[in-house]
Amino acid sequence: MHKQHPNSEQQFGFFDDEQCEYVITSPHTPTPWINYLGNDGFYGLISNTGGGYCFYRDPKFRRLTRYRYNSVPVDNGGRYFYLKCDGQTWSATGRPVHTALDEYACHHGMGYSRFKVRKNAIASQVTSFIPLDTKAEVHQLELSNTSDSAKTVDLFSFIEWCLWNAEDDGANFQRNLSTGEVEVEDSTIYHKTEYRERRNHYAFYSVNQPIDGFETDRETFLGPYRGFENPIAVERGQTANSVARGWSPIASHHIKCELAPGETKTFVFVLGYCEVDPQDKWQAPNVINKTAAKTLQSQFDSSEKVAAELEKLRLYWQKLLGKFTVKSPDERFNRALNIWNQYQNMVTFNLSRSASFYESGIGRGMGFRDSNQDTIGFAHMVPEKVKERILDLSATQKSDGSAYHQYQPLTKKGNANIGGNFNDDPMWMVLSTANYIKETGDYSILDEMVIYDEQETATHNHFDHLERAFNHVVNNLGPHGLPLIGRADWNDCLNLNCFSEDPNESYQTTQRGASDVAESVMIAGQFVLYGQEFVEICQRTGKHELAAQCQKHVETMRQTVEQHGWDGEWYLRAYDARGLKIGSKDNDEGKIFIESQGFCAMAEIGKDKGLNLHAMNAVEKHLATDFGIMLNQPAFTRYSKYMGEISSYPPGYKENAGIFCHNNPWITIAEAMLGRGEKAFEYYSKITPAFLQDVQTLHKTEPYVYSQMIAGKDSANPGEAKNSWLTGTAAWNYYAATQYILGIRPDYDGLLIDPCILPSWKSVSITREFRGANYQIELRNPSGLSKGKVQLSIDGVKIAGNLIEAKHYAGKHHIVAEIIA
Ligand code: GLC
Ligand code: GLC
Repeated sequence: MHKQHPNSEQQFGFFDDEQCEYVITSPHTPTPWINYLGNDGFYGLISNTGGGYCFYRDPKFRRLTRYRYNSVPVDNGGRYFYLKCDGQTWSATGRPVHTALDEYACHHGMGYSRFKVRKNAIASQVTSFIPLDTKAEVHQLELSNTSDSAKTVDLFSFIEWCLWNAEDDGANFQRNLSTGEVEVEDSTIYHKTEYRERRNHYAFYSVNQPIDGFETDRETFLGPYRGFENPIAVERGQTANSVARGWSPIASHHIKCELAPGETKTFVFVLGYCEVDPQDKWQAPNVINKTAAKTLQSQFDSSEKVAAELEKLRLYWQKLLGKFTVKSPDERFNRALNIWNQYQNMVTFNLSRSASFYESGIGRGMGFRDSNQDTIGFAHMVPEKVKERILDLSATQKSDGSAYHQYQPLTKKGNANIGGNFNDDPMWMVLSTANYIKETGDYSILDEMVIYDEQETATHNHFDHLERAFNHVVNNLGPHGLPLIGRADWNDCLNLNCFSEDPNESYQTTQRGASDVAESVMIAGQFVLYGQEFVEICQRTGKHELAAQCQKHVETMRQTVEQHGWDGEWYLRAYDARGLKIGSKDNDEGKIFIESQGFCAMAEIGKDKGLNLHAMNAVEKHLATDFGIMLNQPAFTRYSKYMGEISSYPPGYKENAGIFCHNNPWITIAEAMLGRGEKAFEYYSKITPAFLQDVQTLHKTEPYVYSQMIAGKDSANPGEAKNSWLTGTAAWNYYAATQYILGIRPDYDGLLIDPCILPSWKSVSITREFRGANYQIELRNPSGLSKGKVQLSIDGVKIAGNLIEAKHYAGKHHIVAEIIA
């Protein structure tokens, strides 16, 4: 490759699989390495130095605390704890104070983060988490004096309030600098900006001990022209007990903590959110009703209660992660599948692409295609939530079968600013629904009555929504009989109908082309793959006539791709608005694209002629690199208005020949379908963080989660990742590894066992909960194959075929699956 791998001694942390933690050993990671707290409406993002923010449901409209994106230094704003003792000041989470620490570790675990710091003789531990079913962050701080003399530690907490609407908060200063309001009562600071008018909610920051002082005005706390690293209140060791009126309200508690030799004291801070019945907002004129806050505080006012909540959280995750476990000869594979990939699947399911350290939480809501795809990594964990999500998405579909590209989580309404016309969108709902039914056996989702976006009350069921999704493709075919692309397909940046020459225009919503010419081979592959699935659903629900009709459309599309979508060595990508080929050997740049190879090969289009095999060989030859498979080659070096945003990116980044990880698993799956286990595993592992521990400095992003993009070979820094956490890669790579490499694949009637593994793996043990049964599966590979026939025995009895029929089993069962020639 172009760059040498930095040597592996530059590590910033390690996995502790026993605890399901990643332990970060330096506050100076290449980028902030974050964790997510919360999983049911109230969420916090927390970096390895305590940076980040929290919000309720919608990171744009209900942001509790301020965070400064794109700030200097990076990662500015968070829950800070300043400690001052014997004339020295430091931070209990490693930042923002720069003082070097004697010990620092951040343990990111399942739904919590723990910071262990020592300076001189004072040791501290901050445990941060959002208890289950709670609208509050809990930060428990333990302070210990490890010396043999008495010490006084001045402790200052700090958070800064966001004035709720995060976008407005960062822009509308002429108003916002005058609206801020707080109340202080005992050890609690209440944030009540706009409560007097239309808001029926407030936030608070409390501590379960008497305080020696407080600050609620940022300027008073920091002092003029100072930053978070040296607040004047901390320097003086004293607060002014300021009450914010406008400007920038904050919450800081001051506690003088006397510690005898060897003594430990514990403080529980609660950062909570309360909604109040509008009838009952005030307890006195202008004094907010604090009942809800007090109830919330009392739930976590002792370290015993905190310990009990942490234990509940641990059991919750243990149960979730226990639904699928694997023990293969490769511990990196195991830790990815058993811990981190599933954890990330939960986060992407919850947040789609809304709030991360790369997604500002004020832009996108829940993406239609993104959210449908996210369910395929999550349906085995919490199927009820998946059902609800699919039906929410369904309700943003329009009656012509098209879909709003995004919806807002607070209102569950389609986002009119973006609109629709991304023609891949509808068919993703067939994938999510089929996957849900295969996981649960619950066909009742099809009968649920769901509105179309234009409706007030539902007149059609979810099945009808799927049928219209299918027909949306059929009704929108272009000159070659391939699906029209609309604004874009999965690749948001291939904008064939935009023709933008104005830098102030959005590539994604500007549409000039007549839009009845540009066609997508990727959607064609997607239609064949998920159209076939729809046919199956029709058959299984007794709609045989419809099934037959739809089957014809699918067959026609197969032939159309063979005829107009094959370029000789690989599948074409598209036809543009002028009818010219994209992704063809005839092009100068962008001769080959990954998306159509993945989708047409997964759909096995032209299998009898070996087209899928040829395409996979072409991917290996032209797109594969040491760091993953690039999206296209050669990269675009010039801007073309006929192509749009893709050609706006410098070569090697993002959709222009970057390694856009989301689509790599499509190739992994297609390889597994071809039986090439070594290729499949290689592609899987190239982008999987658990396999990238030796390149942390180059890779830059968190070594425990997938990133959206890794720079490709044409970039300045191949292998450098960006945009961690919120990416469809998580669900897809999990799906590829579990369903196609391990081959433990839910199907309509039960669990299929169809592995395609490394030939060197002699045995793999798997546990899988499935429709009320618990299967202990032993995969045996005595002849060193990748794929073969599978001989199944269940509880010692051989059965024919490779399907475990769900209706026969409940409770625990022992399965031996032997791969034979
Ligand atoms: C982003 C979008 C996703 C899109 C992809 C490729 O990840 O969230 O919807 O498919 O980019 O453009
Ligand atoms: C940009 C990004 C793409 C993302 C889209 C979301 O085009 O390059 O990855 O899907 O924005 O709107």
